[in-house]
Amino acid sequence: MILEEQRGGSAQGLYRVSGASRVTGSIVPPGDKSVSHRAVILGSAARGRTEIHGFLDSADCQGTLAAFLAMGVTVRTISPHHLILASPGSERLSEPSNVLDFGNSGTAVRLMAGLLSGIPGYRVLTGDDSLRQRPMKRVTDPLSRMGARIDGREGGSRLPLAVRGGPLSPILYENVHRSAQVKSAILLAALSASSSSTVVEEVPTRDHTERLLPAFGGKVLREGGRVTVWPASLSGTEVSVPGDISSAAFFIALALLTPGSTLLVRNVGLNPTRTAILEILQKMGARIEVEPLPERSGTEPSGTLRVSFSELSGITVPLSLIPGAIDEIPILSVLAAFAKGRTEIRGASELRVKESDRIAGMAAALRAVGVVVEEFPDGLAIEGGGPDRPLEEGSVDSLHDHRIAMSMAVLGTRLPRGRSLSISGTDFVSTSFPNFPDLFNSVVHP
Ligand code: S3P
Repeated sequence: MILEEQRGGSAQGLYRVSGASRVTGSIVPPGDKSVSHRAVILGSAARGRTEIHGFLDSADCQGTLAAFLAMGVTVRTISPHHLILASPGSERLSEPSNVLDFGNSGTAVRLMAGLLSGIPGYRVLTGDDSLRQRPMKRVTDPLSRMGARIDGREGGSRLPLAVRGGPLSPILYENVHRSAQVKSAILLAALSASSSSTVVEEVPTRDHTERLLPAFGGKVLREGGRVTVWPASLSGTEVSVPGDISSAAFFIALALLTPGSTLLVRNVGLNPTRTAILEILQKMGARIEVEPLPERSGTEPSGTLRVSFSELSGITVPLSLIPGAIDEIPILSVLAAFAKGRTEIRGASELRVKESDRIAGMAAALRAVGVVVEEFPDGLAIEGGGPDRPLEEGSVDSLHDHRIAMSMAVLGTRLPRGRSLSISGTDFVSTSFPNFPDLFNSVVHP
């Protein structure tokens, strides 16, 4: 086994990854995390029955589901990935008897702050140590401008947030943080406002909320960089969640880095607001063939990728591609270490306020294995050493950040055979990719 996982002795999870020589076969990535959260949130805000196919059965998405179960929604679990929700509709969601804990998930807590601002009742939202340090003013400010009654530590900057839902006014808001979570929080609050609200974006961010809303009967108008949502009472529907391209990215990287490899990635989401990573990699010389599936109206586009080993070249990543690849920057920085020449990633200061400070975390992890990295307030520059670059074995800390842990697991496979890399703090991989070790070992060989 290339990836050995130790859980028992270490409460924080540890991976030991050995050098590999082949990556073969095909994978189906787990369900998209962003779409799974939204399917549960909209399905619970909607009156009646919502059937969800391809749900991501991970700690983060289970947290969102648990919050709605505490407010009177019921769920029938056909399989871990196939759920049927029954909701009385947002107006009739009850007051939970305890605080709602969203664990590690910024998406869940920010979107819920938006939705619950307009729903009668008192609710307190919190999360784990990482989430309680993350900025919330980006949502509490615009929601307060809409008339939301929200209190939180440091003037509404930090969790826990106490939300007392009530009538809201419309807003015209410019998405200055280039955050899909902020945009979605406002669009969900807009469902309860007295008239339509608009979010304006200079650079598009992931658009899953505005794609899904019409399927639930919401009225949405999209024109250029503007999205307008009207107040609405939603009704239940059927949602298909595609595979998560952010999770697939670790497997794309494995195939690109391992000489002689070809890997098929099936049923992966190809929403154009999420595929910037493919564009960036193609600019670096990656051989990735994209076969889109015929698109059904109202669903997320998806398809198959055929990824083959490629000699990559370092690039300066265009600023316009950063928001669409924000979750893939950790794995991109690993790939950059094996490219020829320097890769510069700027305009990504948002990475400092993710599940961990991913700029500092990736710089430290890459330096620990001998990669030369320059750190900027808003990004990284990585000196690539080509596909056969030397690496130092040893240990790195993932800072309990799932994407750093999986990125460094990919890097570990590039050690010479018989050498290994230890990665600590890997327990949080289950927030987005519960079967990562098994899937990894099914396609990576000694
Ligand atoms: C997400 C938006 C992004 C992304 C996160 C998921 C979403 O965060 O990093 O993993 O589902 O809306 P920001 O909105 O903070 O950029």
